[in-house]
Amino acid sequence: MRKLIAGNWKMNGLVSSLAEIEALKGLTGSAACDIVVCPPFTLIDRAVRQAVGSPLSVGAQDCHAQANGAFTGDVSAEMLADSGARYIILGHSERRVSHGEDDEIVLAKVRAAHRAGLTTIVCIGETRHERDEGRAIEVVNEQLAGSVPGETDSRNLVIAYEPVWAIGTGLVPTHEQIEEVHATIRKGLEQRFGHDGRAVRILYGGSVKGVNAAAIFGLRNVDGALVGGASLNASDFAEIVLAAT
Ligand code: PGA
Repeated sequence: MRKLIAGNWKMNGLVSSLAEIEALKGLTGSAACDIVVCPPFTLIDRAVRQAVGSPLSVGAQDCHAQANGAFTGDVSAEMLADSGARYIILGHSERRVSHGEDDEIVLAKVRAAHRAGLTTIVCIGETRHERDEGRAIEVVNEQLAGSVPGETDSRNLVIAYEPVWAIGTGLVPTHEQIEEVHATIRKGLEQRFGHDGRAVRILYGGSVKGVNAAAIFGLRNVDGALVGGASLNASDFAEIVLAAT
């Protein structure tokens, strides 16, 4: 399967940061994987223009579940698609934890994004406490079932397994742990979507860096990565992209 490497800039990036996209274009010209950069809302339009003529796609990090209306401060999936975004990260643990987004909210946002024609990168993953209690698989299965609508297919859905305790910490699960969870997700996707469930890309996310990327990409059912910190710098991100090709 063609791998997908997505960079999540989170709440980072000013106009000057677009230089990273320019540099990334030069560094990843030969890459044989799909590459997505997800800057903050304020930079999406400019990032899309900057990426024209390159293999880079642009994505967003959140949206409202409604298409429009009296929702001060919110941004809809339609608006993001209109700005040229093609992907959207939904259900990131930072939204689930700090903005109280449960599976029901994430599900509504995923539906909205699909209506707008965006490909969703739906994040799921256990906390440290849940893993220590032996509940990682259960939590991941629950989030997968609760956050992904039935009317989905491999063209508009990507799953990102991101153990909360591995995000921004430098901690990475063992290869066995990653393979176990990814196999569980694959099984869940096949049960729901049949043969097409095999074509949904499952990314790993959480402290992916140039030094560990190639080994992670070699694991079964790992179809790419969702990268936070290391996506802010073009050469760090390019190292990960090139490890996938
Ligand atoms: P990290 O973040 O790569 O900085 O650990 C990953 C993410 O939050 O998607």
